[in-house]
Amino acid sequence: MTAGYRPGPAVRLLVSAMDAYKLVFVEAAVARILSRAHPVRREGYDRTVVIERILAEADGVVSLTLRDPRGTPLPAWTPGAHLDVFLPSGRQRQYSLNGDPADRLRYRISIRRIAEGGGGSVELHDTMRVGDRLRIRGPRNAFPFIAAQSYFFVAGGIGITPILPMVAAAARSGKPWRLVYLGRSRACMPFLDELARWRGGELVVRPDDEFGPPDLTTVIDRVPADAAVYVCGPPPLMDSACRRVSELDPMSALHTERFSPLPVRDGVEFRIALRRTGRTVRVHAEESALTAIQRAIPGVAYSCRQGFCGTCKVRVVDGEVDHRDRLLADAERADSMLTCVSRSHGGDLTLDL
Ligand code: FES
Repeated sequence: MTAGYRPGPAVRLLVSAMDAYKLVFVEAAVARILSRAHPVRREGYDRTVVIERILAEADGVVSLTLRDPRGTPLPAWTPGAHLDVFLPSGRQRQYSLNGDPADRLRYRISIRRIAEGGGGSVELHDTMRVGDRLRIRGPRNAFPFIAAQSYFFVAGGIGITPILPMVAAAARSGKPWRLVYLGRSRACMPFLDELARWRGGELVVRPDDEFGPPDLTTVIDRVPADAAVYVCGPPPLMDSACRRVSELDPMSALHTERFSPLPVRDGVEFRIALRRTGRTVRVHAEESALTAIQRAIPGVAYSCRQGFCGTCKVRVVDGEVDHRDRLLADAERADSMLTCVSRSHGGDLTLDL
C-alpha cells in the first residue's frame, strides 16, 4: 500500500484475513506479510556523515544528530525509515530515523545502551563523540507510513523511535491519532516532552513503575474506526498488542516492526561446514545458522537478524538452502544465503566462510 491509497472492502477483507492468519501463526506470518506487503525501499546510498550533536534523551538513551560534512542536503526519508550505521569496529547496526523529514540537512537516530547486547549500542554510547564520522547506508523503509483516516500507535520502550515521526505526520495531517506508550519508568522513556507537543490526538503514557506491568486488555481498550495500526517494541509486547488489536478490530490494517529476530519456526538440526575456517558447526533446531556460525566466528558480520539487510549474506558452496529471507533475488539464491534466517532444506551445508 502506498501513500494516498484507500483500500476497498475486498482489500480490507484480505488484510483482515492476513491478520487473522497472523494471530494463529504470529511469528511466521509476520515475516511473510512483511516480505510481501512491505518490500524494503532503498532511498539513499552509502555516505559519510559527521556527528553534530549527542543528546541524552532518557536513562540509557542518547540521540545522535548527523549531517553531511560539507553541509549538503541528505537523501529524503519518510516516517518508518531507518539507516544502516557502520561502526568503527566493523559492526553494522540499524536505527530508525526519528527527526523531522523536512530537515534535509540532518538525520537523528536514537540508541538505547544495551550492556548485554551485541556491542553496537555500547560502542556508540561509549566511544562516539561530537565531530566523529560515521559511514551510513540508506535511508531504507520497511515500515511505511500509509495514508489513513486515523492512526493508532502502540510503542514499547525504544520502539517509540519509528513511531515518533509517524505521530508528527499524523498530527500535521490533521488526522486523529492515539498513542499508547509503554515503558519501565518515565525516566527511561525517551521523547515524552516531544510527544506532548503534538495536538489533535491522545497520548497515553503507561510506565510500569506507576501502573504495574501492562494489562493490554485494559490499556488497549479501543481501536479507532478506520485506523491504521502501528505497533513497535519488544516481541512479547508486540505479539500481545497485535492480538489485542485484532480482538477489538479484526478489520484493522496492522503494521508491525520488531527490533529483535523472529524465533525459528519448524527448525530441524543440521550442520554447516565452514570452508575457509576449516570448522563444522551444528545448527540446533531452535537457533539460527548465524548463531551457530558465531560460535566459530564471533566477529562474523550481521545486522538486522531478520533477513532484510543483506549483511550476513554468504556464498553457498554445497547443499540445498531453505531460503526464508525477504531480500535475495532468485539469481542470488542460486549460490547465496542469509544465515540469520535461512536454513538447510535437509542435508548439511558448506559455506564460503
Ligand atoms: S543480518 Fe540482516 S539479512 Fe541477515
